[in-house]
Amino acid sequence: MNSLKQWVTNSSEAVNIRLVKAVPGSGDDDDEDDIIEFNPEFTYPIFGEQEQIFGYKDLMINLEFASGSLASCFSMGYKEKKPTADKIYATMKDFLPEDIIDNHDLFTQIAQRDYISFKPMGTKVSEYRTNAEGAENSVFEFYQCKFNTPRFLEFHKRMQCFAIFFIEGASIIEDTDEKWEARLLFERVSENGQETYNFVGYSNMYPYFYYPDQIRMRISQFLIMPPYQKQGHGSRLYQSLYNDFCSRKEIREMTVEDPNEEFSDLRDKNDMKHLDAKGVFNDLQAPVKKDRIDQVAATYKLTKRQVARCFELALLRKLD
Ligand code: ACO
Repeated sequence: MNSLKQWVTNSSEAVNIRLVKAVPGSGDDDDEDDIIEFNPEFTYPIFGEQEQIFGYKDLMINLEFASGSLASCFSMGYKEKKPTADKIYATMKDFLPEDIIDNHDLFTQIAQRDYISFKPMGTKVSEYRTNAEGAENSVFEFYQCKFNTPRFLEFHKRMQCFAIFFIEGASIIEDTDEKWEARLLFERVSENGQETYNFVGYSNMYPYFYYPDQIRMRISQFLIMPPYQKQGHGSRLYQSLYNDFCSRKEIREMTVEDPNEEFSDLRDKNDMKHLDAKGVFNDLQAPVKKDRIDQVAATYKLTKRQVARCFELALLRKLD
């Protein structure tokens, strides 16, 4: 039993995701490049419920991505392999970018080229700065895209694996359906007279029909890349989507597909902040009438359930 165990690897621990800023002129020495490395949260959609890979000792699967363009490279290493070992690339292939390569030298060349030349696609919506340490030269920019936006389909094919790796229950979305909308967040870094871009996160949304002639916009996937989490970017992205939905007459309501606990927290905090600013909780008295919930939901394009939740939070806050 024990001897079998040493041939089993946890797939989420084996996969190393690397975001690479391949600064041209840094040669072959990886140390000169700026590399951020982390593991995926979830690999069960790829390797099965147990997240196990059989047949290797000291297995490492490296997925390198150029930090802006997300051009990617696959490589793996191990100390020993059994003849019956699981096939790694064949198992992962459907979840990885279609244009992933396995030639590391070529990847370095592409990443160096992209470091200088990559620019985000779509329509720039807005930008902001943060006072996070190390972000002094950074501006964060939102871009709005659809699948018919030039270069977006290609970029989406590269980024969608991050949904699988970091959003529980996520699946690859139908990229032939042109109704999808996406909002991308990039970091623009100005250094030494040069501007470079890093991918920070995204959300994609699907417009459902709201009887008789409006739209229920559903946030489907929402992701901030691990190195950028807990710096306020998730809230910025959420606020940016909400402001957009509020400004569009055809949108009646914003909903969210299977929010997890972290997203629900983020949503509650931001909705509470907005409703507070609008004075919705002034003169708050329990019980809150259904009509009042309906009216607030309709005015602020939130679901009745979410508004009821916000009223509950506001009442609890009053008790404290
Ligand atoms: N310093 C320290 N903490 C900060 C700072 C800062 N400068 N700015 C914000 N924070 C805190 C917030 O107060 C908040 O704290 P809390 O967790 O105690 O409430 C926390 O950081 C998170 O807030 P944000 O930074 O605005 O959110 P973040 O950018 O981390 O995004 C998200 C949150 C989207 C859940 C992100 O962690 C993520 O992408 N996770 C993986 C994927 C995922 O779970 N996506 C949602 C699935 S549901 C769906 O897709 C519909």
